[in-house]
Amino acid sequence: MNKIIDLRTDTVTQPTAAMLAAMQQATQGDDSRDGDPTVIKLEALAAVRTGKEAGLYMPSGTMTNLVAVLAHTTRAGEVLLERGAHMLNTELGGLAAVAGVYYKAIPGTRGAMDETALREAVRPMTRNNFGTALICMETTHNGAGGAVLPLAHMKMVYGLAQQHGIPVHTDGARLFNAAVALGVSAAEISRHTDSVCFCVSKGLSAPVGSVLCGSAAFIERARPFRRMVGGNMRQAGSIAAAGIVGLETMIDRLADDHATAKRLAAGLHAVDASLVDPRDVETNIVRISVRASGRGAAQWSGDFKARGIAVSPADSVSLRFVTHRHIGNAEVDAAVGACREIWKSAAK
Ligand SMILES: Cc1ncc(COP(=O)(O)O)c(C=O)c1O
Repeated sequence: MNKIIDLRTDTVTQPTAAMLAAMQQATQGDDSRDGDPTVIKLEALAAVRTGKEAGLYMPSGTMTNLVAVLAHTTRAGEVLLERGAHMLNTELGGLAAVAGVYYKAIPGTRGAMDETALREAVRPMTRNNFGTALICMETTHNGAGGAVLPLAHMKMVYGLAQQHGIPVHTDGARLFNAAVALGVSAAEISRHTDSVCFCVSKGLSAPVGSVLCGSAAFIERARPFRRMVGGNMRQAGSIAAAGIVGLETMIDRLADDHATAKRLAAGLHAVDASLVDPRDVETNIVRISVRASGRGAAQWSGDFKARGIAVSPADSVSLRFVTHRHIGNAEVDAAVGACREIWKSAAK
């Protein structure tokens, strides 16, 4: 049987040969105890890339987001996020269960919070209200099909937050995809937020980890929270080494993933225009609606799987495809061919 074409997510990317070599040669210090030189190097590089003072390496994006909430808030107050945010929908309520804050979901378009709704939601502390503790953004926005937040939107949100003395955290799990799509540096995006995290484990192809970046004081405050949630690591240089290779060599090639995603969207659109509008595809995620086929997303994903293509149902009538380093034009064309067959069989 041919190898499965895995379009479920970019976290399936395997480390490159250069990463494996770097991992083998990495220092073996105890990151938790004395600090490991390779981890320190990754954190410093992450800080430079995001234009922040310091970075903190953790095992996952979920943990960097959670630690950011813990470090920004004080077990009271409301966190404002766009209603489709990963932090809200996919991180198991950690911000409430662990950080002890509650949240308000703000309606948005393509991952960008509606400005009027956001302005109305911001509230001060009063006798009867803790007030807004934190505002979060997400770019690229996973639930919005890899949409990139416009810099003007981020500037508006950060300006509003600063006006009210509210900190801002940005979930940039795919920050570098956003930077490549906008044609700016990650630092240019991160100017509009106090803290930002990004994953080296997604399109950048490293096996493990995310880095939280912010001011030196913020990162010092975040450190014990990382420990509290079990994120302190030991010989983490072995995995951090791959993250360094990711940051040094894998950012520019994300443009290839965006090109394959666009090719995929164009191919699927040619199967049936109701599936996807290729103009909505900005980065490496393609969300399609199978509603018009009369079949649900679960059946579609089973039909794709039977043809050797793995995709993720995003909701009952939508599928998510994510392109990455192991997906080239041949894999995209195979996925489009499978879609054509499934569409025809659904129409019978
Ligand atoms: C936008 C976003 N934030 C955070 C995460 C969480 O990352 P991790 O799977 O490393 O916990 C993801 C994972 O897909 C994501 O897409």
